[in-house]
Amino acid sequence: MHEHGTGGDTQQRVLRAIPSRGLAGTVAVPGDKSVSHRAVMLGAMAIGTTRVKGLLEAADVLRTVQAMAALGASLERHADGTWHISGVGVRGWREPEQTIDFGNSGTGVRLAAGLVATTPVKVIFTGDESLSRRPMQRITQPLSLFGARIDTAPGGTLPMRVIGAEEPVPVSYTLPVPSAQVKSAVLLAGLGAPGTTTVVEPVACRDHTERMLKAFGAGIEEEMHDGARHIHVTGMQELSAQEVEVPGDPSSAAFPLAAALLCADSRVVVENVLLNPTRTGLIETLHEMGAEIRILNPRQSGGEIIGDLAVETSELRGITVPAQRAPAMIDEYPVLAVLAAFAHGTTRMEGLAELRVKECDRLSVTAQALKACGVEVKTGEDWMEVTGSGGAPVKGGAVIDSHHDHRIAMSFLVLGLAAQEPVTVQGAEMIATSFPGFTQLMRALGAEIEAVHDANGDAGS
Ligand code: S3P
Repeated sequence: MHEHGTGGDTQQRVLRAIPSRGLAGTVAVPGDKSVSHRAVMLGAMAIGTTRVKGLLEAADVLRTVQAMAALGASLERHADGTWHISGVGVRGWREPEQTIDFGNSGTGVRLAAGLVATTPVKVIFTGDESLSRRPMQRITQPLSLFGARIDTAPGGTLPMRVIGAEEPVPVSYTLPVPSAQVKSAVLLAGLGAPGTTTVVEPVACRDHTERMLKAFGAGIEEEMHDGARHIHVTGMQELSAQEVEVPGDPSSAAFPLAAALLCADSRVVVENVLLNPTRTGLIETLHEMGAEIRILNPRQSGGEIIGDLAVETSELRGITVPAQRAPAMIDEYPVLAVLAAFAHGTTRMEGLAELRVKECDRLSVTAQALKACGVEVKTGEDWMEVTGSGGAPVKGGAVIDSHHDHRIAMSFLVLGLAAQEPVTVQGAEMIATSFPGFTQLMRALGAEIEAVHDANGDAGS
């Protein structure tokens, strides 16, 4: 089986991480997932041909590619790996003949719902088991304000039918949760409404949509009022095609980085990583914990800061990670909790309510899996406390289920690399949703990750 599948639809895969040391080498992780979704979506709307280099060709983003094709855009992968995307123009979406299945991708479905909410087309969205449990009301509520008619399953989950507004009105919306997905859905819907749509963001979260909209020539303005960012977008203005180069995903870089910090005698460089300040909460936290991570060659590319991360095995100490940092590292808590399990002292993480509505309930799944690996953990509604082993290898030796969550799978493989006993991860096929080639990349650094044979004698990789 291959990691370029569609993630949730592929056969069960079981991987086992064996205690390893001396990880070494220079690697580049695949393109950033958030930037990739947005490049495909804005390209699918813009006039002209957008060329995207370094697109993350993982299951989640390929769902967005398929969705944009179903909505009338033309998207082609050229032999050199560059994607050429010709857009449909503002409110130019074609009504798809079939249901659009977003697989495991919350970002894909929520942003796409925003895109179509102000065009008079009917679109039905579905997803896999994990996505079908995640809340959609957070977008259906603001998108209805534009005049879209939206139905979901009882409980506000997928399947979701969006009938875009015939005569949309602009909206002013204050984000009730710090979610870049909700912010982006509203801004993208605003492109199809006359006048100015405003999103008020009390707590800053990733800003790739705003940055990329600017690059595509949209009318975007930002101002601060009483500590909240107000983002204004002008509707009914065409976007113009761009050249986009997607930097490496810091949320993927987190795994080789964590493995290098934990496995003895390691020295690893991860090149070309996106270092947008709304994404670097993990690096900041690890610096506070005493990690040896150096940022080399910081540079600007396509309106984003990128750099190379040089990391060495480090003794970590427990800290309190403040709630206001959560949006800048929201996808990194499972791997941070794994790192904290090896630290001296206790690490307390606060402001974690959003973890409960990710690909799985990451707060309770992370805590349970750590306990299964012999780590002491306490949790509350929106916090977690991990007692570190004081630098010694934690026990490991458990079988962990990914719960349809790529980041749970990768986090516990990292734990297994530094534990006393191997850790087995079931449902590791989910890794393909965000990090194709994860196993190969980790093996290239010297990490021992093996495919476990299933009952039919088939290897998992
Ligand atoms: C994303 C935003 C985050 C993050 C997700 C990607 C995005 O979700 O967890 O992996 O690309 O906008 P929320 O904004 O809902 O927290």
